[in-house]
Amino acid sequence: MQDAFGRRIDYLRVSATDRCDLRCSYCMNDETRFVSRPEILTLEEIERLCALFMRMGVQKLRITGGEPLIRRNVLSLFENLGQWLGRGLSELSLTTNATRLEEYAGGLALAGVNRVNVSLDTLDAATFKAITRQGNLAKVLAGIEAARAAGLRIKLNCVLMKGVNEHEIASLLAWSHERGCDLVLIETMPMGEARSDLFLPLDTVLERLSQTYRLEETDERTNGPARYLRVLETGGRLGLIAPLSHHFCESCNRVRLTAAGKLHLCLGREDGVDLRRLLRANEGDQAIEDAILNALTVKPRGHDFVAGGTLSQGPGAVRAMSATGG
Ligand code: 5AD
Ligand code: SF4
Repeated sequence: MQDAFGRRIDYLRVSATDRCDLRCSYCMNDETRFVSRPEILTLEEIERLCALFMRMGVQKLRITGGEPLIRRNVLSLFENLGQWLGRGLSELSLTTNATRLEEYAGGLALAGVNRVNVSLDTLDAATFKAITRQGNLAKVLAGIEAARAAGLRIKLNCVLMKGVNEHEIASLLAWSHERGCDLVLIETMPMGEARSDLFLPLDTVLERLSQTYRLEETDERTNGPARYLRVLETGGRLGLIAPLSHHFCESCNRVRLTAAGKLHLCLGREDGVDLRRLLRANEGDQAIEDAILNALTVKPRGHDFVAGGTLSQGPGAVRAMSATGG
């Protein structure tokens, strides 16, 4: 699969549910609405679409949310998708807030998952509660520990927030690297409920970090938009995702499937293709494949985010991360 700009598309992110047991302030507010249950793809529908995508050249799958681990029977999804590993699928991973990772880590590893991305913005229980509105940090830390024990490779995602966690970044870095985890710093993107007054530029954070740590540029890239620095004192990796101050779209290799079955070509755009309608109209594989190929021809060159933390159309104009999958 290739798009109109010659980018090879081999990576699919699938949101297993748009619901979440947390309410991170940059993602949701009390009015955030969820898709009604009948609109959500069944696990069988998700598996059928994934199989189609793999036949078409997708080699990496990431299951996201909302929070994927709150979906009933989600482990069976990982187990069934895991059967494709080594047969077209090279990587099966997940993004999670880790509130339930303690209970699932072992099963995920057995299903063939080898990497998890965990959202961790703070190590302070009160700050965690303030950011997530209802979260219990201890459960998240226990989840991370269980994932380590199960042998999963862990990337910790930290969203930078002015006045909220900005003074903790150095300690988060030390904590992550002591545990063999990569740390990835993410600038807030103007999606969903993100507040532009919390926007903290990555460059400011890096400048502060470089007073304590020697940060060395690398040309390492994983699948994603992150670029990586090597931290000489710890030997660990520091990933950087700055969609606003540095463009990352040139190397985009991915498309996203929402829990409601819409295929989105770009995180920062509203347009997409309704694959659920085709599934439920009993269309055959060929018709669905054609719709996917057709969609790829309109994958945009880049996102619409505007520097400064607002969107041209105003905040909240683009779906929250919980709807699209991170
Ligand atoms: N800006 C940046 N990152 C976000 N995430 C969720 N919403 C936003 C936003 N508006 C992050 C979460 C998670 C990842 C999937 O996306 O923290 O780590
Ligand atoms: Fe849930 Fe992730 Fe959104 Fe936080 S950012 S509310 S953990 S989906």
